[in-house]
Amino acid sequence: PLVPTGELITRAAAARTAVAAFNIITLEHAEAVVAGAEAAGAPVVLQVSENAVRFRLGRLRPLARAAAEAARSAAVPVALHLDHVQSDELLRQAADAGFGSVMYDASRLPYAENLAATRAAADYAHAQGLWIEAELGEIGGKAGRPALDAHAPGARTDPAEAHAFVRDARVDALAVAIGSAHAMTTRTATLDHDLLKRLATALGVPLVLHGSSGVADGELGRAVVGGIAKVNVGTALNLAMTAAIRDHLAVHPDAVDPRRYLAAAREAMTGEVARIIAVLGTA
Ligand code: G3H
Ligand code: ZN
Repeated sequence: PLVPTGELITRAAAARTAVAAFNIITLEHAEAVVAGAEAAGAPVVLQVSENAVRFRLGRLRPLARAAAEAARSAAVPVALHLDHVQSDELLRQAADAGFGSVMYDASRLPYAENLAATRAAADYAHAQGLWIEAELGEIGGKAGRPALDAHAPGARTDPAEAHAFVRDARVDALAVAIGSAHAMTTRTATLDHDLLKRLATALGVPLVLHGSSGVADGELGRAVVGGIAKVNVGTALNLAMTAAIRDHLAVHPDAVDPRRYLAAAREAMTGEVARIIAVLGTA
């Protein structure tokens, strides 16, 4: 069934566990995430990023409707989340399109501007009944953003600053910069577990790890134990999808019907979803 994101994450945080949140681009992604979560017997978050909406010709509804329908008929609880929203116009479409939550991303802005924009987004989201996540201390590797030095100011979330930010912006969860980066194709990120511990102590809201595709299983498990309650994964599914298609076409160079290689891609993504959920479950 389709469930509110806030309920899922709040319950996970209270139990010191984490829910995996997978970014979807195609219908096959959505089907694979639901099938993988059902195989693992665990709740899951389906999330659509502003970038994915741009790819879907700027339209939110077709993919959102498909995701909501997949969630409704799932055998496990599934939440719908709108990810990395920068546009206020997209934010305004969220509730009506069936999302239970949004991540509002103004982390590229200086502190005061990030706070003001996020506070306004949070007021709007709450009035719509949406749970809202924000980001402080920019997590690197986002499309179209300059590469960040891992030690540059802003590349780590400061606990005292984060405490004031969550209090003043009134957000329900915070994405923290603790060493992960978006779009990594190797699982080689090193997380700052000491910083995570200080953040978990300083903040009274669930913490979110972005760029989790680049984090090895052991590190991921430690992060959950350290206070991460939502684990965002995108690239890992795209790696699985693309590898399966590449393999299929190498073996069948005359392939025509897309269902053949998309079925292989969906199966590979399903396996990856179940695997990642299992890693979180052992934490
Ligand atoms: O918000 C989405 C996640 O941070 C995805 O990051 O593609 O590096 O796994 P990833
Ligand atoms: Zn992210």
